[in-house]
Amino acid sequence: MIEIDKLTKLFEEKADAAGLTSELEQLRVEFLGKKGYIAEQMANLRNVEADRKKEVGQKINEVKQFIEDAIQKRFAEMLAAEEQRLIDKTEAYDESFPIDTETGSYHPITLVQREVEDIFRSMGFSVEDYSEVTDDFNCFEALNIPKHHPARDMQDTYYLSTGQLLKTHTSAAQNTILRKYSADLEKGLPLRAVFPSRCFRNEKIDACHENTFFQMEGMMVDRDISISNLIYFMKTMLSEVFQRDVTVRLRPGFFPFVEPGFELDIQCLICGGDGCPSCKDSGWLELCPCGMIHPNVLTAGGVDPEKYTGFAFGLGLTRLAMMRYGIKDIRVFNSCNLKSLSQFTDRTFNTSEKED
Ligand code: PHE
Repeated sequence: MIEIDKLTKLFEEKADAAGLTSELEQLRVEFLGKKGYIAEQMANLRNVEADRKKEVGQKINEVKQFIEDAIQKRFAEMLAAEEQRLIDKTEAYDESFPIDTETGSYHPITLVQREVEDIFRSMGFSVEDYSEVTDDFNCFEALNIPKHHPARDMQDTYYLSTGQLLKTHTSAAQNTILRKYSADLEKGLPLRAVFPSRCFRNEKIDACHENTFFQMEGMMVDRDISISNLIYFMKTMLSEVFQRDVTVRLRPGFFPFVEPGFELDIQCLICGGDGCPSCKDSGWLELCPCGMIHPNVLTAGGVDPEKYTGFAFGLGLTRLAMMRYGIKDIRVFNSCNLKSLSQFTDRTFNTSEKED
């Protein structure tokens, strides 16, 4: 039987030596447990003379309280030390530790868009307007699209609560561009601009249709611009993109903002025109609606149709990216599937040098 006065000292010695919380728990059992030192002292109270019982009992309780507090304190210290150890460990910088070298990649649309932008820049075009929100005037009115035209229907167009709408085509910027350059035209400078953007149409989505897609509009306006200028620029651009000579053809197409209007097809690059599943056996792929800018559109843009003519085209960037990279399902583009989207690379510029 240890004397009560010596218990405190004994506990302190043992507690100092305890380095683990499990050792501390052992101490708790040893001192405060059912068969521990304190219980032993309590049981022994029976043998203490009656007049000292109260004093000894109080003493035992004091020691018990001291040990309980000490264990709690020591336990908190141990937890704090462990936490610090973890912090030190995680914050330590180990130079030799291998770092994750996986970097991001450019979206295939971004790659194709930049490539086409660069090609047009090299042919004297400026690159403009990427805005996605526009209004009825720019998207329809200024483009000679009559009030009852189905394109204005809610079924095709996403209207915003502000009364504005999401671009259904990049032609929505034609008026702004014409206005911007009309004074330059008067000074004898030609208008050559391309303006890419994301476009939105209320479409049912499947492998060939998306409600969100990318186009690149192009316009050239000057004195004596003709269809042959249009064919030349389109053919040059497509030959650059596909890195080979391409054969194009024009079919009549109707759009209220061009007259005459065309569908520009490209001879299938896979079968060379013989017919295959990619071109649905026709030998041709529809790529780019285009035409000569309607006089009403020029007038709305502050350009005199008596003096100037021009062409416009609406290149489907999404379609072009599908052809360029052999992507069969349009849904891949908006899928956020990084495994699919990160496998494309670009050949015309060093992606690490350009910022988004
Ligand atoms: N904006 C038309 C569309 O998206 C395409 C187009 C552009 C047609 C320019 C002619 C001229 O369907």
